[in-house]
Amino acid sequence: MENPQLNQHGELRHLLSIEGLPAGIVRHILDTAESFVAVAEREVKKVPLLRGKAIFNLFFENSTRTRTTFEIAAKRLSADVVNLNIGASSQSKGETLLDTVDNLAAMQADMFIVRHGQSGASHLIARHVAPHIHVINAGDGRHAHPTQGLLDMFTIRRYKQDFTRLRVAIVGDVLHSRVARSEIHALNVLGVPEIRVIAPKTLLPAEVEQMGVHVYHDMIKGLKDVDAVIMLRLQNERMRGALLPSAHEYYKYYGFTKDKLAHAKPDAIVMHPGPMNRGIEIESGVADGGQSVILPQVTFGIAVRMAVMSILAGS
Ligand code: NCD
Repeated sequence: MENPQLNQHGELRHLLSIEGLPAGIVRHILDTAESFVAVAEREVKKVPLLRGKAIFNLFFENSTRTRTTFEIAAKRLSADVVNLNIGASSQSKGETLLDTVDNLAAMQADMFIVRHGQSGASHLIARHVAPHIHVINAGDGRHAHPTQGLLDMFTIRRYKQDFTRLRVAIVGDVLHSRVARSEIHALNVLGVPEIRVIAPKTLLPAEVEQMGVHVYHDMIKGLKDVDAVIMLRLQNERMRGALLPSAHEYYKYYGFTKDKLAHAKPDAIVMHPGPMNRGIEIESGVADGGQSVILPQVTFGIAVRMAVMSILAGS
């Protein structure tokens, strides 16, 4: 089947999901991001790669980190960036998603960065736009959040180097998490031999094992000897009906405390895509502790987003 993300030369044209991306492209993004980390350490944190390009940040759903780091990344590449917090505004006036996009394309947009509550929204836009316009999925429903998956891989590589020797655990609300899905695809494509998901049955998608993961319901067993732990936020806004007995009960079994961290390898890193719910899925002592790389994830996110935008603009 034709991959809508690639052009006829097999180059990345849009970034919509990690699923289906060749390993070579994933590695190329991570390698390119390395060079942009160095840019951020300079006094003048700017390169002229996207000078004159118009990038539209199209956020139909709230976001702090993702929207801001995309904006900073675009600015560091010298692009002109326009932020639209559409929420429900033009849509509440009855405009369709594609009409909104057409109007922005008429303003000579070169790239759209799209966050939308509906799975598949960025695919729809990518299929619709003119060939010179690039689309980046910044999170669609429960489906995918590829730049988050990539920045998490970048972070793991920075601290652990070789993917092919790692044991990585993803803990919490996998069912509602586009981040978990993108991470699982990325870890698989990069050759991580053991990917674990740790969650109660009610927060796991049916047949999650088919994604190439081992399932644990007991967090202590699941954390044993892992090299990296990725915590997920409880996505209360996406839960319909009660999937959990209570927040207190959840914390007891799946809250990440120092006691539980002691079961991972002594040099295991602790990650979280944010926003964190302290005292619900993670204890402050772990979130702020010596093994936490939660804030470096945010910093690396800028370099990874610069890498994706510059690669797309060059295709
Ligand atoms: C995530 C998201 O929005 O998908 N956050 C993020 O992008 N940093 C995860 C979440 O909301 O829990």
